[in-house]
Amino acid sequence: MRETWVVGAATNRYGKMAETGREAATRVALEALDVSGIDPKRIGYTFVSNAFGVAERQAHLGPLINTALGLPDVPSATIESACSSSSAGLHEAFVHVAGGFLDAALVVGVEKLSHLDTLAATSYFAMGADSAFETRNGATFPGLYATLAHAHRQKYGTTSEQLGAVAVKNHANGAKNPHAHFQKEISLETYLRSPVIASPLRLYDCCPFSDGAAAVVVAAREMVGAPSAEPLVIRASARSGSVAEMQDRPDLTGLPATRTAASAAFRQAGVGPEKIDFTEVHDCFTIAEVMALEDLGFYPKGRAAAAGAAGETSLQGKLPVNPSGGLKAKGHPVSATGAGQVVEIFEQFNRRAGARQVPKTEWALAHNVGATGGSCSVHIFSHR
Ligand SMILES: CC(C)(COP(=O)(O)OP(=O)(O)OC[C@H]1O[C@@H](n2cnc3c(N)ncnc32)[C@H](O)[C@@H]1OP(=O)(O)O)[C@@H](O)C(=O)NCCC(=O)NCCS
Repeated sequence: MRETWVVGAATNRYGKMAETGREAATRVALEALDVSGIDPKRIGYTFVSNAFGVAERQAHLGPLINTALGLPDVPSATIESACSSSSAGLHEAFVHVAGGFLDAALVVGVEKLSHLDTLAATSYFAMGADSAFETRNGATFPGLYATLAHAHRQKYGTTSEQLGAVAVKNHANGAKNPHAHFQKEISLETYLRSPVIASPLRLYDCCPFSDGAAAVVVAAREMVGAPSAEPLVIRASARSGSVAEMQDRPDLTGLPATRTAASAAFRQAGVGPEKIDFTEVHDCFTIAEVMALEDLGFYPKGRAAAAGAAGETSLQGKLPVNPSGGLKAKGHPVSATGAGQVVEIFEQFNRRAGARQVPKTEWALAHNVGATGGSCSVHIFSHR
């Protein structure tokens, strides 16, 4: 395998976009190419993720983006894996570049749903669950993750205050991120006073519906020359699936796909969780961050919530988690989320994260989940 780098990365501000998904995707792609300093003509493939393009009546974004970039002949494909779509795109780019099939590839994720109301957006999102057994029986993602939260609470005694600590931390980080959907701190009291959405999850346990776009440029080390920014060396790119339907899983206190992808990723990278300096994990709901930290091996089962409440996962803590603000505060534009996590790691590695800069940035991990864990990506990055 060839050593493969992320050489450019860019995102817009998540939240409500005035422009179309197509325009936003093109703009962040241009910015990522600009940051990379590599000749756009070296791009051999564009992997686009846009799960809900139908909501804008626009599918098949790849050729439109490539044409706007002046690369109409470059092939493209849309990679859909629910909320883990663009990390799946990154995995495809990695496999092609590391395997020698491409010298460089572009990964773009974009979503725009803010023109829909909450009911319509919830119905769109629910298409990522099992329509036969879950959605048709009224399950939505807040409801499904509430079920996971109940199971975790029942087995490990996870409290509302501990889940609230995740929300308070991620809002504090988001308040320092100019790209975040929510740039406001909240207190634990605000969290505890917020309405219940799906018991035990409250408003501030949930990620919002966000528009957003993010792009990364992936290239083989030997074709980069002198990089114009500090690249991320991709030490591991692992994907896993698991039984999609929650009712068929023997245990609901974690996500099996995270455990499988993590063990494959750590094996590829040749390091263990103790090597990771900071991480961006998939906190679509606060309980998801707690489960991720346990399933990734950072904490034994049942210990992550208390460690977070004790400050271990804050910017200055033992393991900074979601310095970007995470899905909770930075936002969750589904198909942009995985690429957006990599943008944050790129900014951190280049020490351009301002007030949310974490102290140590030698190794980082990105964890991105599709739906309730039918799919999952884990990427591990280090410096050169
Ligand atoms: C939690 C949720 C139901 C709230 O929707 P809602 O009640 O219709 O909220 P509204 O859009 O009317 O917004 C009301 C206020 O709450 C804020 N808000 C909305 N969602 C929020 C969230 N998740 N966290 C914090 N604040 C939120 C809005 O900014 C708005 O604030 P304002 O009054 O100061 O402008 C919705 O955000 C949700 O379903 N989130 C989960 C999305 C999801 O399932 N994603 C997939 C994950 S796998």
